[in-house]
Amino acid sequence: MRPKAELHLHIEGTLEPELVVELARRNGIDLPTFDAEAIRARYDFADLQSFLDIYYENMAVLRTDRDFYDLATAYLARARAQGVRHAEIFFDPQAHLSRGVSLEAVFGGLSAALKDSDVSAALIMCFLRDQGAAEAEEVLRAALPYREHFIGVGLDSAEVGHPPALFRRVFDMAAAEGLRRVAHAGEEGGPDYVWEALDVLKVERVDHGIRAMEDPSLVARLREERIPLTVCPLSNVRLRTVPSLRDHILPAMLDEGLLVTVNSDDPAYFGGYVEDNYQALRDELGMTDAQLDQIARNSFTASFVEVPSAGQ
Ligand code: ADE
Ligand code: ZN
Repeated sequence: MRPKAELHLHIEGTLEPELVVELARRNGIDLPTFDAEAIRARYDFADLQSFLDIYYENMAVLRTDRDFYDLATAYLARARAQGVRHAEIFFDPQAHLSRGVSLEAVFGGLSAALKDSDVSAALIMCFLRDQGAAEAEEVLRAALPYREHFIGVGLDSAEVGHPPALFRRVFDMAAAEGLRRVAHAGEEGGPDYVWEALDVLKVERVDHGIRAMEDPSLVARLREERIPLTVCPLSNVRLRTVPSLRDHILPAMLDEGLLVTVNSDDPAYFGGYVEDNYQALRDELGMTDAQLDQIARNSFTASFVEVPSAGQ
């Protein structure tokens, strides 16, 4: 299996229904159903928001540092089996703080799991854009005592109506702390969101970015500046940002000379981990091994951390 880095992965999006049930039992949390298949049967999404509603609901079972440890350990084992040599992992602290779960539990559990794994991995702390800029600044300040546990910041959750420029100050604060910067842009939002992420937030990678292809001058900018794009094909299909994998714009992005990577986003919800995304691109879109090898090489080029055994 080709070695690869995974650069767009929400750890909360790796919460499989079986683990939802196990953690609910362990923590004495009532669920509408304790049948993992019945939970999975709800995963028929109309758009990003309809997914986010269930994603935030399910995370209520994550309460202790042990829960976060188990979640990340399960992901890293799966990732390893899918050829992942290095992972840069998003997490959403505000989605836990708002439920009374401490940063200590979140960082404690996740960091311990990363330390105990033989997959190279690092954490990127995301701000929930629909919770506004003031709350993002508050969470960054609260996370600074854990500064050595994360390498960067990101911006996720409901995109449209929450443009990147609103988060200028918190991204400036993060830059001053030496943190790397990424943002979801151009998933459901238009090319203007990608421009803002680059110009205002000074992001070093764009998460998704597929709608950048609607603007040729933006495509030229991304190509010339070698800005990586973390594309998530199965996610795009399941959230209906593309009608089907056969219609995906990824091959055109590659033809444009963009530094595209392939990632799983929220694999417990979208029907596959990262190698499953690569295989679907080959089987359903007819992408060649040479194209997929290029994408895998790009993933190491686009990573923030030097990976000793990149296998390139
Ligand atoms: N949070 C988890 N997955 C996400 C996605 N695909 N887009 C925006 N926010 C997210
Ligand atoms: Zn994402």
